[in-house]
Amino acid sequence: MHNAYFFVSLQRKSTKSTNIMKEIIKSVHITLKEEGELNEVEQELVAAAKEATFRSYAPYSRFCVGAAALLDNGEIVTGNNQENCAYPSGLCAERTTLFYANSRYPDVPVRTLCIAARDSSGSFTKEPISPCGACRQVMLETEHRFGHPMQVMLFGTNGIYFIDSAQDLLPVGFDQDSLV
Ligand code: THU
Repeated sequence: MHNAYFFVSLQRKSTKSTNIMKEIIKSVHITLKEEGELNEVEQELVAAAKEATFRSYAPYSRFCVGAAALLDNGEIVTGNNQENCAYPSGLCAERTTLFYANSRYPDVPVRTLCIAARDSSGSFTKEPISPCGACRQVMLETEHRFGHPMQVMLFGTNGIYFIDSAQDLLPVGFDQDSLV
């Protein structure tokens, strides 16, 4: 198991007139595990996310992404990317899965979301793929609506990334508080 740290640094540069400098530093803690180090539930989630890639509808990119959500009631629900010839009409695996989970069980928090992908050769990616910005926004909302951090597992054959919360993937995100 390895730990990696990434830093996001925001700076407001000093101006000659005020000479004020403020800095906010946000860090992401990622734990890396090899497949052999996964516990039983984690193995089950990875298997479900991988299996979901075989049901992707991805005739345009041929990039098949699967996701598996572990709910607080112990149930695992899965989804995958659904493409469309009008490209923007398609949807990523993460949002398909979370919207399905939330529509099926609107009161049940999502504890963990696991993501796996196969490239156009049909092989699982060596490195984990990282959710797009729109999916991160939906992941953040899922976490906020239940007031419960959602762990994210990103599968790659070289190793699996574990991130404690969706917030870590969108450190300066838009949230409900911004609306008031
Ligand atoms: N895709 C996902 O489903 N999840 C991601 O995290 C990244 C990209 C899908 C969208 C599209 O169907 C295909 O992968 C290529 O971008």
